[in-house]
Amino acid sequence: MFERVSAAPADPILGLNEAFAADNRPNKVNLGVGVFMNDDGVTPILDTVKQAETRLVKEEITKSYLAISGDREYGRQVQALLFGNDSAVVAANRARTAQTPGGTGALRLAADFMHTQLGVNTIHVSDPTWANHGNIFTSAGLTVANYRYYDAKNYRLDFDGMLADLAKVPAGDAVMLHGCCHNPTGVDPSPEQWQQLADVAAERGFVVLFDFAYQGFAKGMDEDAAGLRAFAEKVPELLVASSFSKNFGLYNERVGAMTLVATNADTAEAAFSQVKTLARGNYSNPPAHGAKVVATILTDDTLHAAWIEEVAAMRNHIQQLRDLMVNKLAERGAARDFSFIGRQNGMFSFTGLTPEQVKTLKEDYGLYMVGSGRINVAGMSRSNIDAVCDAIVAVL
Ligand code: LMR
Repeated sequence: MFERVSAAPADPILGLNEAFAADNRPNKVNLGVGVFMNDDGVTPILDTVKQAETRLVKEEITKSYLAISGDREYGRQVQALLFGNDSAVVAANRARTAQTPGGTGALRLAADFMHTQLGVNTIHVSDPTWANHGNIFTSAGLTVANYRYYDAKNYRLDFDGMLADLAKVPAGDAVMLHGCCHNPTGVDPSPEQWQQLADVAAERGFVVLFDFAYQGFAKGMDEDAAGLRAFAEKVPELLVASSFSKNFGLYNERVGAMTLVATNADTAEAAFSQVKTLARGNYSNPPAHGAKVVATILTDDTLHAAWIEEVAAMRNHIQQLRDLMVNKLAERGAARDFSFIGRQNGMFSFTGLTPEQVKTLKEDYGLYMVGSGRINVAGMSRSNIDAVCDAIVAVL
């Protein structure tokens, strides 16, 4: 029977890693998958993570199962980061958090919940969006539609288009929003625009799902949550898929969370019982290690403060690379104004390079990026940025 199964295309992001690994050229550069690298080309383990792990090795006494919804303290810490320490939503006991295997696990759990419990059939996502969103949502039985988001001609948010499209979404559908550091464009709404978007959502009554995977990578922990918190004030029910892959560098530990906000504690409890049933039927209960590391850091004042500094250092490093890239492309007389790269948030930049240019960069220069022209700015270093800029200018 397996002979009837035709081969699937390579994953547009993770598939690039395989092609990159098989490439023998010494000067190859991988700007595909979104992982942070330091100037030595290494994705480092944060110091605070190492300290927490050392503590866990000494103090942990069991590897028995976690609850279906994961570690309780972790859930509390997730909510504090998302909604702030003085959140009305948390104080009113309206939020519940399930620890999930990565942000992807959280998105899938949210999608399963929307489809099976809320009767949602269609989810509207930004055009463009992360290449895996469609895969996750269709796997959960949802149909994926687009709302306007990116103004490719002017390298900025098409806010009017976005607002107009969201104003037409029916109440029974869902809308997914990127909390910050939009993947793949790096273009986010301003705090004022977030308020307007929350007004539209409250008025229309569609289901809102935030994908929040880069908190701290744009401006800061609280600043980056401005959109989510505007929604938490104005919209009575929310779903949030969050991830600690990037801001804790815990990529391969799969540390995510699915948080639901309901109108009151009883409704939250009942809805969350269904979330737990869905998690049990999918992965049973989440992996413990990464979440225990996160909870250890966030509950220790010294480690927490040190972690905030580590995130700031990663954020600043990326911003420096953005500025450097803009200058280097201009110095080389690039036949285009790339100053927009310096204004985007987070790891990614949507370069505007065409699929043909992306192909030439890979084949002729060993420079790998996603077919959409997205680069992982955080994958560059001071030692390869010149080669990257040379290659880009050559194909323009
Ligand atoms: C990315 O967009 O590169 C990251 O979110 C990693 C992934 O799983 O695709």
